[in-house]
Amino acid sequence: MKILAIETSCDETASAVVQDGYRLLSNVVASSVDLHKAYGGVVPEIAARSHIESIIPVIEEALKRANTSLDEVDALAVTEGPGLSGSLLIGIMAAKSLAIASKKPLYAINHVTAHPYAAFITSSTDKSLSLPKNSPPFPSLALIVSGGHSQLVLFKNHFDYKVLGQTLDDAVGEAFDKVAKIVGLPYPGGPSIAKAAQAGDPKFMPLPAIKTSSAYDFSFSGLKTAVLRATQELCGKKYDFPSSELAGLLNSSQRANIAASFQSRAVSELVGRTLKAYKEFSPLSIIVAGGVAANQELRAQLDRILPVKPYYPDIRLCTDNAAMIATLAYFAYETKQPTADPYILEPLPSLSM
Ligand code: KG4
Ligand code: ZN
Repeated sequence: MKILAIETSCDETASAVVQDGYRLLSNVVASSVDLHKAYGGVVPEIAARSHIESIIPVIEEALKRANTSLDEVDALAVTEGPGLSGSLLIGIMAAKSLAIASKKPLYAINHVTAHPYAAFITSSTDKSLSLPKNSPPFPSLALIVSGGHSQLVLFKNHFDYKVLGQTLDDAVGEAFDKVAKIVGLPYPGGPSIAKAAQAGDPKFMPLPAIKTSSAYDFSFSGLKTAVLRATQELCGKKYDFPSSELAGLLNSSQRANIAASFQSRAVSELVGRTLKAYKEFSPLSIIVAGGVAANQELRAQLDRILPVKPYYPDIRLCTDNAAMIATLAYFAYETKQPTADPYILEPLPSLSM
């Protein structure tokens, strides 16, 4: 069973071919991140325009690298949400057209549910990927951490899960991006904070632990504000000093120290709640997925604290990609989930799990 998937929920135009829900035949990602750098965040109109330019070449490249053709694939899959509506629309239009023209079944996939499915890819024609040896057994606890989402989900089986907790405000990746902006590190903030933090002292800036009324919920907006206030104080400025002018007052060692302090606090919040959920629910596996799962400090702390080693997708499958969409679509096929009607499928920008 070969599935061709398309993913365009944010700024990555992605297409992939996956066989039988575990073997990655191709994975193509064209990112418009460089176009957004000047603005310090994703500009939806620029992302949508860039999807229009890239979508057909990216799909063609995915088929070519998989050494296959549209005729040979058994089904199509596309992200229906959540995401930016203009971005989602381009992928959905492409998928609908291909499904109608080829008369193949089309699976409409939830992007957030799909993130942990990157860990079900255990084989690839690309030997440079570092993949888990086997797929994670159920019940599985998934920590899904990205630019748009932070949640802990207990999967009893495919399409049978419970969201234990989620962010009440900013996602953790969003907090990395915002703190990077405050200290003057380039977008996307996750990788640049992680890099700067290597030279910093995580104890430099004491940041308060985050309290939420439900044990598994997250909240990162307050942490970002705590970093802002502490940075204003460090620079000898009052609370009304504009955050956009702080970066120019910091030297590189202060920047590294703030990055390390923020990263350490943010990671502790994720690790603490994951450990608590592991102890309460005793899952047979733990999956860590989403863009922030690329963070080495997060991986190191989880490996140190959890009694079992989590399943991590390859770094290239942590950030947005279509391989995870194709993989979840395979399990939708296997568990007889309904397919989408290509004549009526629409983007669902605020779809939740
Ligand atoms: O999963 P993803 O590509 O897109 C969403 O679905 O949101 O995640 C992107 C997020 C961004 O906020 C980015 O800053 C963060 O993942 N990220 C990281 C790292 N690499 C990407 N955060 C922390 N450490 C990293 N190494
Ligand atoms: Zn994502």
